[in-house]
This record gives sequence, structure tokens and C-alpha cells, in this order.
Amino acid sequence: MEPKFKRILYGGDYNPNQWPEEIWKEDMRIFRNARINSATINVFSWAKIQPSEHEYRFDELDRIVDMLSEEGYDIVMATSTAALPAWMVKRYPEVMYTDYEGRRHKFGGRHNACPNSPVYRHFAAALVERLAERYAHRPNVTCWHVNNEFGNECYCDICQNAFRVWLKDRYKTIEAVNEAWNMEFWGHTLYDWDEIVLPNELGDGFSPDCTNFAGISLDYRRFISDSYLDCYKLERDIIHRHNPQTTVTTNLMGTYKGLDYFKWAKEMDIVSWDNYPAYNTRPAQVAMKHDLMRGLKDQPFLIMEQTPSQQNWQKYNTLKRPGQMRALSYQGIAHGADSVQYFQLRRSVGGCEKFHGAVIAHAGTENTRVFREVAQLGRELESFGTATTGSEKHSEAGILFDWENYWALEYTSGPCADLKYVPQVQQYYDYFYQRNISVDMLPVDADLSRYKLLCAPVLYMIRGKMKEALEAFVRNGGILVLTYMSGIVGASDNVYLGGYPGPLREMAGIWVEEIDSLPPEFQNGVRFSDGSGASCSLVYDQIHLEGAEALGEYTRDFYAGTPAVTRNRFGNGAVYYIGTQLEPDGLARILDQAVSQGQVRSLIPEASGLEISCRESEDTRFYYLINFSEEDQPVPASLAGKPDLITGRISTAEDVLAPWDVRILTEAL
Ligand code: GLA
Ligand code: ZN
Repeated sequence: MEPKFKRILYGGDYNPNQWPEEIWKEDMRIFRNARINSATINVFSWAKIQPSEHEYRFDELDRIVDMLSEEGYDIVMATSTAALPAWMVKRYPEVMYTDYEGRRHKFGGRHNACPNSPVYRHFAAALVERLAERYAHRPNVTCWHVNNEFGNECYCDICQNAFRVWLKDRYKTIEAVNEAWNMEFWGHTLYDWDEIVLPNELGDGFSPDCTNFAGISLDYRRFISDSYLDCYKLERDIIHRHNPQTTVTTNLMGTYKGLDYFKWAKEMDIVSWDNYPAYNTRPAQVAMKHDLMRGLKDQPFLIMEQTPSQQNWQKYNTLKRPGQMRALSYQGIAHGADSVQYFQLRRSVGGCEKFHGAVIAHAGTENTRVFREVAQLGRELESFGTATTGSEKHSEAGILFDWENYWALEYTSGPCADLKYVPQVQQYYDYFYQRNISVDMLPVDADLSRYKLLCAPVLYMIRGKMKEALEAFVRNGGILVLTYMSGIVGASDNVYLGGYPGPLREMAGIWVEEIDSLPPEFQNGVRFSDGSGASCSLVYDQIHLEGAEALGEYTRDFYAGTPAVTRNRFGNGAVYYIGTQLEPDGLARILDQAVSQGQVRSLIPEASGLEISCRESEDTRFYYLINFSEEDQPVPASLAGKPDLITGRISTAEDVLAPWDVRILTEAL
């Protein structure tokens, strides 16, 4: 597709406002050596650019924009609305959010506004109006960054009223609310809209992830996601009014639970996100988040933030090892990023992020390991020009990811508290990752017809047209993999009566009578049809065949010999049902069958210890090979003979990638 920017954006959060102006010139000189071409500015400057209710001061920001423009930067202009100025909180205390315990916060922190506060929205809009008026036509301001990492929750009275209005719009009558939330349970029947209270600890919540009534808690999550989205749209519309052509985004956070990012992405010109893997995050976990972020719009995205070296806010803030930052940056690009941006360009002198890595360290010079690595990467990215930007990923396999299922699965009480949505989905992603099979992360309303194989892990909630879409996919020859805890409830967490997995029962050709759950120290086993076996854990569906065949049976307990994994022919396709959490090898055995039945191809025919992913422009295919293992790994023979975009050298089968090393092998189309 047509890329949004004329080059790979390379730079990141830059806060010259925190430094005397003598330093700025030095910054420019140093950044030039690293080929930095982009800066995200004005992220937390509200108090500076609006020192009081009726006073705005843009002189410093003007000088920053002028300087960066002279240097030819792509400026990512943030709107500063993510941290409230003290004067506003003093005069209008209701702009601060009220937390889950019901406490309204005082001045402090960030991401601290009540999203429904009319006062907050008024001041945010007024500020953005002035920013957009002043900067939206500046040729170097090529991207707008609304707020920052939208998130948090608010349980104030303003939000409570807004929630009631939101509910009226959704349900029309209070009777419909009672029915949706099954309020006859515990005698919670409501007779008036103003009896509705927010489900925090003072109401029907009993911890942030637990609730007495999933119906109200799910609606609250939908509502609060929409509330922040309204704040985003408010700012975006003002910016677009001043310049309809400009690109507007906000930085997302991967699998962050609080916001329905598929819904958000529809309102964003480009997706951007902040990638902060911890010392123990596996590369496949990072890869899944990148693919999810790409999947939000099915388009290239921006990495808005990553640290060049270490974070400050994790328990152990491990340095990125020599080469690791480069490998992680290319991993982002390999999965669809058209930028590499750092938090931040110069390391803070104070505040809780003074130990957070930056391009320029406290030493203040370019004579550091981190800077040299940043500079090397900058030169490489610059040399690609526009070769890779806008290029797409094509996959034959997809995995469904759905925020409403994320919320609902984790709210549900029983059968097992260890059932967490993201790790469940990750197990499926890991399989494709290991096999170097390209896979897309898809919303439940995606066009499924492009895929041969779909995995829908823990598809607990079936709503809207999901049943029909999945049935049509399978009827047309698709292979669908379903799991335990699927098809159980509708949009309000009320169970589909008549037997699990409810709407999926017919296509799966099974009936699940009961769901056992055992603590981790008790496991069961599954024996597959070929006699091999695998252990299994967590949940154990008690399955009756209704047309499906058993691919594996439990080996122990009172249900030994009954089906644990099944397959059903449906239309021209097939539905696999995995009734228990299989260990990775066991899961791979089933998924191998599904992949071969669906004729899904790996990017390379042989096994490889490298991470391999692929992007395609109109005329070129780019194979990104990254060595995340601790040993040297050879270039797969099937990719030998292709030139490396980074060095220009032709790869050979003798070519070996050291740990963290990268190749971008190209093939003309
Ligand atoms: C987030 C924020 C940044 C900064 C970084 C530090 O991503 O957006 O402002 O605090 O974390 O890791
Ligand atoms: Zn509020």
C-alpha cells in the first residue's frame, strides 16, 4: 500500500523543553550522526504551553518546531493532553479520575483525567484547537500523536451518569438491562436508571478482575473504552479540521486489556504502539503483539516507542545486549512497522525515568555503546530509502483476537482462575512462530475468506454474526481450530442453554457435558490415534461425539478413554476441537494435522532456528531472518542465493547468523 511517510521514521520522544537551549544544538549534531530523522515532541507540556486558564505560550514550542524543521525532521506532534496541569486540578478538582476503590485523585501522576469530564474535554479541545491552528500546516509536522497511551478507568459520578446514558442508548429500557445482566440473581432487579452504579469495589466488582455480575462489568469496559475513544476522536477531529490530509495516531500498548483496540483502530489513520519487552519476554510474545498491532488495520504501523537500552519501571531493568536492540528493531519492521522510534532521545536528569535508556545517555556524548548501535541502525535504515515502507504481509493462517472475549473470559468465575486470555492465544501463535508460518491476528468481524486455517482460542463469547461467519468459513473449505471454553455465553455473559459449546456445537459435532479443572500439580494425558501421547492441564472438557471423530482420548481419571480432541467434517472444511490445554508438543501434533489438511505453507520448507517473516511490496519480497537463539544459525538452504538488503551480499548456505544477527533477503516478484 501507499506508505504514510516518505521514509522509515527513525527517532523518538524528544523533550528539549526539559533542557536549556544550548543543549539543543548539540542534540541536533549528535542525532545527525545517528541519521535520526524524526522527533515526537510536546508529549507532556500542557503546563508549559498553557500556564493558566486563559494564557497560552507557544514561543518555546515554536523554536523547537523551527529547529527540527530546519534539520528536515518528520515531526510527530503530540497534543499534551495526557497529564493535567496543576492549576486545572486546583480550580476544577472533578477533572481528576476516581479509582477502582472510589477515591478521587488529587493532582499528580499522568493519564489522570476523567474521560467524561466536560471541563477536561473543554480544555483539551481548546488546547488542540490552538495547536492545530498553529502547527497543522507546517510541512514538517507530518504526524499527530493524540494524548499518550490512553488507558486507566474512572468511577466518578460524572462517569456514572455518562454510563447510564450509554446504557439507555444500548438497551432502551431498564427491563432490557435487567435481562441482559441477569439481575434476578441475588435480587438485584433495577426499577430506575438512577439505580445503576458503576461496578467498582463499592459496587458489584470485588477486585479489578472479578465481578458479581459480568454483564454490568462488561458493559462498563465497553463504555470506558468508548469514553476514552471519544476523547481521542474529539482531538482528532479538530486536527483534521485544520488539515484533513495529516496523519493522526495515538500510541497503543500491544495487548493492553482496557481498550478495544480493533474498535479504536477504525478511528486511527495509522496504528502506533510502544514496545517494551521485559527481560523474560520471549521473542514470540513480542512478535505476536507486532502482528496484533499490524492486524488492527491490516496495515503497516509505527513503533512509537522502545528503549534503546533499558527500562526503569520493570523489576529488573536488563540492558539490551549488544545487537539485541537492532534485532528487536528489525523484528518490528519484519512484522509490519515502518518506523523505529525510541523513548527517548536524551535521558532525563530527574523524575522516575532518569534511569530509562535514551539515545544520548547522562554522559552526554555519542561515545557510548548504545549510541554506536543506534547510529549503525540509523545508517542501515537510511540506506533502504522507501524500499520496504508500505509493504504488506500475506498469511494463509489467522488467529482470532477479541477484546470482548478477553474481558469476558477473565471476568468469569470458574471453572479455573488461571485461564488468562493472552497466554491462551499465545500458545497458538507460538506454534506458527516456531514453524515459520506467517499468521495474521484477526478481529471477529474480519473477512475470513482470505484464509485457509483459522484458530479461535477460548472463543468464550459468541455474539453478533460470529457463528454464521465461522460456519460460512468452514463450509467453504476452511479449517477451524476451536478450544475448550468456547461458545459458552452471549454478549452479556449469559450462557447459551442446550449444551456447550452452544452455537458452535453443530459445526464442531460434539457436546461438552461438563468441564473439569485441576490444579497444576494434577495433570491428565491424551493418547492420540497414532499411539503417541502428550500431557494436558488446566481444564478438561467431557466430550460426547455428535458426528465428530476423536483424535485423542484422556488417559486417566474417571473420564479415561473419552474424547479430548476431536475433528468434524462440516461442509467442505473441518472443525478441530481441543478440549484440554495440551503441552506445546501435543498441541503441535494437532496443529500439524490442521495445517496439512488446510494446505497451509510455511515461509520455508525446512525447519530453522531463526525467526523468519516476510513482507511484500509490489515488486519485491523481503525475508527477514533474525537470530533470537543463543547459537549460530545458518541461512536456510531454500533462501540461499538471495541478496541481503543490508549488506548487498548474496547469501549462501554457508552463511551463518550469530545471535541477534539479521538478514533481509530479497526476491524480485
Ligand atoms: C511509556 C510512555 C512514555 C515513557 C515510557 C517509558 O511508554 O508513553 O512517556 O514513560 O513509557 O518506558
Ligand atoms: Zn469520571
